[in-house]
Amino acid sequence: HDTLIAEARAILRRNDRGAYTVPTHGLYPFQWNWDSALTALGFSHFDIDRAWTEIETLFAHQWPDGMVPHIIFHQPDDGYFPGPEVWDTGRPVPTSGITQPPVAGFAVRRLFERSRSDPAARERARRLLPRIHAWHEWFHRTRDPQGTGLVAIIHPWESGRDNSVDWDAALERVPTEGVAAFRRRDTIHADPAHRPTDEQYRRYIWLVQHFRNLNWDTARLHEASPFRIVDPGFNGILIRSCSDLAELADELGQSEIAAQSRAFAERGRVALETLWDDDLGQYLCLDRATGGHVKSASVGGLLAAFAILPRRRAGAIAERVHRLAARARFVVPSHDPDAPGFDARRYWRGPVWLIVNYMIADGLVRSGEDACARSILDDSLSLIATGGFAEYYDPMTGAPCGGGHFTWTAAMVIEMLS
Ligand code: DGY
Repeated sequence: HDTLIAEARAILRRNDRGAYTVPTHGLYPFQWNWDSALTALGFSHFDIDRAWTEIETLFAHQWPDGMVPHIIFHQPDDGYFPGPEVWDTGRPVPTSGITQPPVAGFAVRRLFERSRSDPAARERARRLLPRIHAWHEWFHRTRDPQGTGLVAIIHPWESGRDNSVDWDAALERVPTEGVAAFRRRDTIHADPAHRPTDEQYRRYIWLVQHFRNLNWDTARLHEASPFRIVDPGFNGILIRSCSDLAELADELGQSEIAAQSRAFAERGRVALETLWDDDLGQYLCLDRATGGHVKSASVGGLLAAFAILPRRRAGAIAERVHRLAARARFVVPSHDPDAPGFDARRYWRGPVWLIVNYMIADGLVRSGEDACARSILDDSLSLIATGGFAEYYDPMTGAPCGGGHFTWTAAMVIEMLS
């Protein structure tokens, strides 16, 4: 274990750019939102000051309306597409114009617990608290205009599960006419068979151009987007961050933020139930543009466990993981190997991701499903032992896929072993 932790720390140091880390050199040369929040957890075990800085840098680029962008383009790098000129969001330090899974509330509470005795940490938490809350409020205001309790994503990149089978039908409805010619760079750094297809990229870029034409007015984009999906994984993360922020706000004597955060989380937990599917024994996405559920056996419906579910739902998720383990050598595959669309190596259509494993296991432990959580963590560490610190892994063979020397994978190993 000591060797693995030492290797993981070296990866964090290698990808450290001073006040933020890059997910990996080459493929992702900027700061990514949820990568940073999860990476801070890794830093917190050996450099707590650096851990706080990671999240502070992210929030220094929050938009005035409360949104926290998914990429911050700290310095030019033409090795990535789409770069700042494609987004054209007009921010002082260029950023993208969409967001990502809001895991920062969870991460900041963990950081605070790990540095509670330090008055400086208290001050840092106190400064971040209203900013994170503003982001959560932004979600509920702009991404749940009908007040359902659940928020929608308007671009597959927001989910973090970019090319999941979950988005296939909705993405079909996104046009490709008028998409400016472009050259991908991701396929130079990683095996194209591990990445989304060109067809998917055209639709991703159509959405970016569409939002850019609306001047990145985030209050209008939800209604204007042909792609509007309620993802149980994404909402599970938001629910968890709202409850953790409520606890943190209590500790810091911020009763208003505590009450509002608790109300967001409670409403979310009740509404999550509308996404449950007895047949698959997991949650499903809801396509808000059609009003129908998306019957897709993806890990988004299991990641909802991070919200800390009632016993019976957590038990069903554990059972589902158990059934997946009978067909995949390593859990938790991002898509069911027996379901249509599964692709063992293509990004979010099958591979195992350590951050997802960590979040599912954390939620399951807190719901009393220790044995299942343990098996997920054991598989995660076996993958590292056989495949190194990859971006993701083939669930059938354990082969490393995507980028290497991967920051959040390393951070999760430190977190799991510490
Ligand atoms: C990518 O470029 O693949 C990222 O996931 C988009 O944020």
